[in-house]
Amino acid sequence: MAPVNDVPSAAAGTWTAALAEDELWEGDMTGVTVDGVKVLLMNVDGNVRAYRNRCPHQDWALDEGEFEDGTLVCSRHLWEFDALSGKGINPDDCALTTFPSKVEGGTIWVSVA
Ligand code: FES
Repeated sequence: MAPVNDVPSAAAGTWTAALAEDELWEGDMTGVTVDGVKVLLMNVDGNVRAYRNRCPHQDWALDEGEFEDGTLVCSRHLWEFDALSGKGINPDDCALTTFPSKVEGGTIWVSVA
């Protein structure tokens, strides 16, 4: 069964500035590197999410996929994910790896620690 994929919290002092808030509009996604880790940032109806930028199927870069109507589709074999929760839609027994993220002071912060 799919693992629970709620947005985790981060320990104090582990936040890294990932991107300016105004560089990620609603409905946009982009790949960034945070402390050496490839991260996919998504703005889902005003909610920022940060995921490991690798598909749980065969490690394809997710920022090469499509993001539409709240669904992320991997470009490699078209697996689908709920962009807000990171949970698999098709198939539904997988999930993206979620990193803690927050928006503060006009900056998107991510913790990959
Ligand atoms: Fe993403 Fe296969 S690598 S669906």
